[in-house]
Amino acid sequence: MPKVQAGKTFRLWCAASSSGEEPYTLAMTLADGLSSTPWEIVASDISTRVLEKARSGHYDMERAHNIPQPLLSKYCLKGTGSQEGTFMIERSLRSRMQFMQINLNTALPKLGEFDVIFLRNVMIYFDTDTKRQVVARMLPLLKPDGYFIVSHSESLNGITDVLKLVSPSIYRKP
Ligand SMILES: C[S@@+](CC[C@H](N)C(=O)[O-])C[C@H]1O[C@@H](n2cnc3c(N)ncnc32)[C@H](O)[C@@H]1O
Repeated sequence: MPKVQAGKTFRLWCAASSSGEEPYTLAMTLADGLSSTPWEIVASDISTRVLEKARSGHYDMERAHNIPQPLLSKYCLKGTGSQEGTFMIERSLRSRMQFMQINLNTALPKLGEFDVIFLRNVMIYFDTDTKRQVVARMLPLLKPDGYFIVSHSESLNGITDVLKLVSPSIYRKP
């Protein structure tokens, strides 16, 4: 597990966050697990269209199937009346999240350092050289001992030798 330092804000970057389901689920998990430790999430994507959807935090109920039920009932508001069949992410979670347009293929803006970086299901769009460049560009933003997480169908084998494999899809920066 990532080390949580007393008094320090736990920072997570969800790169390629698409329409927000992934970073909001991570936000619910942090809110549930970190109790009094402050935390924040930067969620980024290249597409302004999906970022607009993500910022709204408003989804059709059918999109809730990947969110564990206890988190759904604790952190989401069920729509009623004209909003029947939808749900809204609670404001207390949304206020800790920053949505930004970032193209991982160009120089990154100053984002500070993160305890954990998620880069899931986006490298499928990149060739091997681009994957290497993208990961190399992101690594300076990961704290030592920080975790870099890809999806179960991805691997960083041959992409970087800086990160150490902890378990399938989870890497750590020494
Ligand atoms: C399949 S979705 C993955 C969403 C989420 N990470 C997940 O695993 O469910 C891929 C996302 O990558 C974004 N993307 C594609 N190329 C990108 C780039 N060069 N920089 C940032 N995001 C990019 C797309 O806009 C899309 O939202």
